[in-house]
Amino acid sequence: MEPFQYHVFICDQKKAEGVPSCSARGSGKTIEALRKEIGARGLMDKVQLTVCGSMGLCERGPNMVVYPEGIWYSNVTPEDVPEIVQSHFQQGRVVERLANTDSAALYNEIRTNRDKFLVAQRAKDAAGMLPDDLNGQIREFMESRVILTALELDLFTKVGEGATAAEAAAKAGTDPRATEMLLNALVALGLLSKHNGTFRNTPIAARYFVAGSKDYAQPALMHTAHLWQRWSTLTDCVRAGSSVTYQATPQRSEEWTQAFIAAMHRNAGERAPIVVQAVGAEGVGRMLDVGGGSGAYSIAFAKANPKLRSEILDVAAVLPIAQKHIQEAGLAERIQTREGDLRRDGFGAGYDLVFASAICHMLSPDENRDLLKRCHAAAAPGGRVVIQDFVLESDKTAPKFATLFALNMLVGTRGGSAYSAEEYTAWLQEAGFQDVRRVRLPGPTDLMVGTRR
Ligand SMILES: C[S@@+](CC[C@H](N)C(=O)[O-])C[C@H]1O[C@@H](n2cnc3c(N)ncnc32)[C@H](O)[C@@H]1O
Ligand code: FES
Repeated sequence: MEPFQYHVFICDQKKAEGVPSCSARGSGKTIEALRKEIGARGLMDKVQLTVCGSMGLCERGPNMVVYPEGIWYSNVTPEDVPEIVQSHFQQGRVVERLANTDSAALYNEIRTNRDKFLVAQRAKDAAGMLPDDLNGQIREFMESRVILTALELDLFTKVGEGATAAEAAAKAGTDPRATEMLLNALVALGLLSKHNGTFRNTPIAARYFVAGSKDYAQPALMHTAHLWQRWSTLTDCVRAGSSVTYQATPQRSEEWTQAFIAAMHRNAGERAPIVVQAVGAEGVGRMLDVGGGSGAYSIAFAKANPKLRSEILDVAAVLPIAQKHIQEAGLAERIQTREGDLRRDGFGAGYDLVFASAICHMLSPDENRDLLKRCHAAAAPGGRVVIQDFVLESDKTAPKFATLFALNMLVGTRGGSAYSAEEYTAWLQEAGFQDVRRVRLPGPTDLMVGTRR
């Protein structure tokens, strides 16, 4: 059974540097061109495109096979795509100049390549070489560092509509030779292109990394650049058992705080609608947003329920950022900010919803027990506490991002970590909450919810 008239398998296999592959020969651009052309000609219901791994013709990629006929095309460039789509998919005529018409020769080529590959693999294994994937994982920091340095220098903005290395270096106040090396690497990473010495942003870089774009992420990504510094101390932190560069929130520089809250605000843009839907804003008159940061969650809850009033408790340096967002949302009447220390202060009483998003991971188990007792005191009878965080499975080895986030807290806090649902449940029950449950959300965070009877 074939639900589509044509089913196209196109190889996008990546291989080690220097080894021929469809990916190295530009399959990414061919796939993009195929998607666009199929869409533009209204053939999405007729032609199904599936990206796949190697087909054994790696030196002649990009390769694709069209079923039901089983036509193998090789060396397919973006320029060939309109002809294939029109001739083959619309008119049913195979594009002979790109098709492999001799099936015996095709079979032999694939077998020969497979044998060559197996010999190379055995030689590599016998020599005790690290597998490519593992080697790649170990070196991934280089690519990350290249992008973060370019962001720190705001180089994508300096490249703008197009610039030579010397022009970009002059704008960034950097060394021209070193800048060219960095820009060349960014081309290899697919974030810039280079023609006749002029560098240009690729669409993805133009969207996220060039100032003035609606989705400009550089200010928020400076938080990741700051985390890089902390992560460099991981070995020392593992020896010491805690952060070796710890700075309490109020002691951090303004630049650090701005980038941190900008990053939180961007995340919240995606998470807040999911959280509001899962928690429900109906019936919530008073909300307390513990460590409310940019105010994004209070704003989302207030928009979902016109009767809801929220109070954001945070450190003094963060409140002006929250106030700006609240003003912009036109919610100054219903969302208040309060300076306070969530590690110590009483929170008041009578809240229908006590919300703590991305807070518990900063704190040690004992600090969380204490925090949740104060949350319980703040909740009205029938009121709920809702924790949003990266929740680990019982043995703490998954999900991967939560295990990495635990280390992010090791390098950045005195006693923070990621915690399991069992730990949250025990603390919430100990604080007096009932009907404690985990609400799984799509994406990296979950909710832990408890009710005060
Ligand atoms: C990871 S952010 C989460 C922000 C927000 N809840 C969200 O999910 O987007 C942690 C927040 O806790 C605040 N914070 C950290 N230590 C605090 C303290 N001792 N007292 C009050 N707020 C604190 C930070 O300023 C920051 O806004
Ligand atoms: S990498 Fe595409 S056919 Fe081998």
